[in-house]
Amino acid sequence: MNAPIGVIDSGVGGLTVVRELRKYLPNEPIIYIGDDARCPYGPRSAEEVLQFTMEMVESLSKMGIKMLVIACNTATAVALDEIRMQFSFPVIGVIRPGARAAVKASQTGEIAVLGTMGTVNSKAYDGAIQQLRPDATVHSLACPGFVPIVESGEYRSPQAREVVDQTLQPLHMYSFDTVILGCTHYPLLQEHIEQHFSSQKQIISSAVETVVDVERILNEQQIQSSSMIQPIFYTTGSIKKFQSIVEDWLSIKQPDVRAIKF
Ligand code: DGL
Repeated sequence: MNAPIGVIDSGVGGLTVVRELRKYLPNEPIIYIGDDARCPYGPRSAEEVLQFTMEMVESLSKMGIKMLVIACNTATAVALDEIRMQFSFPVIGVIRPGARAAVKASQTGEIAVLGTMGTVNSKAYDGAIQQLRPDATVHSLACPGFVPIVESGEYRSPQAREVVDQTLQPLHMYSFDTVILGCTHYPLLQEHIEQHFSSQKQIISSAVETVVDVERILNEQQIQSSSMIQPIFYTTGSIKKFQSIVEDWLSIKQPDVRAIKF
C-alpha cells in the first residue's frame, strides 16, 4: 500500500523521528507537517494544542495517509486518545515508546525526563514509566529554552551549549542513570546534553523505539510500501529555514518543502 505515513510536530522536532523512519523503513513514503509558525506548543494550553494538532491531522487525513505518527510529545500527551477516537487510521505517539526504551535501558530505575512545560505538567511520562516499572523514580524537568534554539537553527552554537548547561543544572541534586529526551526537538541538542553529563548517562530518544511500533503495525495490517519516493514536508513557517534544517539533519539535497496554512 503506497499511501504515505503522516508525521506531525509543532515544528522541526519530528524530523528526528523522520530520520529514523528513513533509516529503518526506507520504502515508506512520508508526508510531514511542522507547525513552525505556532511553535512552541510547550507553553500553550491543552485546548490550544489539541485544536492545532487536529488541524494538522485533518489536512493529512484529506491527503490520504495510511497511518499517523504524532512526532511531538506535547501533542501526544494531550491529543493521542482524541485522535485515535476520531480517525480510522492507526495512530502512534512518542511517549510510550520513549518510556519503554528508558525502562529497558535503566539499571537503577531512576530516570530523568526532559520535556516541554506541557509534557512535564501532563505527567504522561511518569504514568507510562510507572506502568512498566512500578518502583521507578522519575525526575522531570521542563526545558523551555531548548525548542526556540532548535527552531532558530542555532542548535550547534556555543549559546546552545550554554542554555543546555544552565537548564540542566537543577538535575544534579538527583541520582539517575537514564535521561529521556521527552521532546522530539531535543535530539538536535543531544551532543550538548551528552557532554553536559560527561557521557555518564544513557540518553534515550523515543525516535528509534517509535519506528519499532510503526513497523509492527505496517506488518500486522499488511500496509507496507515498496516505493522510494522522497518525503514531502509542509510548514506553516519559513520554507527556507525548514529546508536548511532538513538538509542538515536528514542529508536530503533540495528537499520538497511546501507552505501550508491553518
Ligand atoms: N517537539 C515537541 C515535543 O516533542 C514540541 C515542542 C514545542 O513545540 O514546545 O514536545
